[in-house]
Amino acid sequence: MANDVAAAGDLSDYEALHRIMTRRMSVRRLKTDPIPDDYVGKILEAGRWAMSGANSQPWEYLVIKDPKKKKELYDAFQDTNMEFIFWMEQMRVFELRHPAFQVKSDTLEEAWYKIRHKTESKNRPWHEAPVVIVVLGDGRRQWGTVNGAMTFGRHASHLTDGLANTSTHMQLAIASLGLGSHWGTVHIQEPLKRVLGVPDLIEVYLIISIGYPDITHTSGSRRDLEDIVHRETYDMSKYMSNKDILDYLYQLRGKTMGRYHLKDSLLPGSEDAKKS
Ligand SMILES: Cc1cc2nc3c(=O)[nH]c(=O)nc-3n(C[C@H](O)[C@H](O)[C@H](O)COP(=O)(O)O)c2cc1C
Repeated sequence: MANDVAAAGDLSDYEALHRIMTRRMSVRRLKTDPIPDDYVGKILEAGRWAMSGANSQPWEYLVIKDPKKKKELYDAFQDTNMEFIFWMEQMRVFELRHPAFQVKSDTLEEAWYKIRHKTESKNRPWHEAPVVIVVLGDGRRQWGTVNGAMTFGRHASHLTDGLANTSTHMQLAIASLGLGSHWGTVHIQEPLKRVLGVPDLIEVYLIISIGYPDITHTSGSRRDLEDIVHRETYDMSKYMSNKDILDYLYQLRGKTMGRYHLKDSLLPGSEDAKKS
């Protein structure tokens, strides 16, 4: 049996997969042109084949094409999720805020207004994408997995692990079809549930807007393999102190600013990002 599984793949499969994985990037500016209907089916089909604890398959998908519904969802998202995140991010020192929230305006209220209404952003609001898929989760299905996964202190993570897996499958399928998308995290579900009519027991996990990319492709940035791989036992020379982690975060911010279409960053790392 093990041989059968091995025989099904070869190096060219890996190379094709690797090309998709490394070319995929978060696309935060999508064209408004429609995408073929059967592409949506293919993306959902890819999601369906994700791994989940005990094969519980806790996911469902809500496909939205109606411009009015997409806008309603977008407005609800901006006025609750984005507004909340904007203000919470202001608690950090400027350079360590998430790149999307490193704002420069006379007042924070003005900065928030610009983000809410995208007055200065090169990003197109995601409701203008032709298709939006909302990934939903049903925690009750996840009871199919081992009880230990639900124990307090273990973050009940099997549900979100499964939902992340299905979402990643879909993101890879999207990239393989020459389409773009990004991961739209949901922090506050209730206002979105009201717009979408989602029952109380169902979780609104993720918003995936999909369309043709309206940006030039740039290569992504990841930590070097040697820095993150340990062999046989944990290699303490690779362990980062708390101070190292802070330095890393400063560097990381410098490298990723451009991905959010923000102006040139002065942070360490931004020079490397410009070269790549
Ligand atoms: C758990 C998680 C949460 C994320 N949240 C957001 C988000 O809310 N908005 C967004 O634009 N991108 C989000 N992303 C995308 C990441 O910023 C992105 O994958 C990362 O910076 C690497 O860039 P790349 O996707 O272009 O390779 C998220 C990704 C993950 C896995």
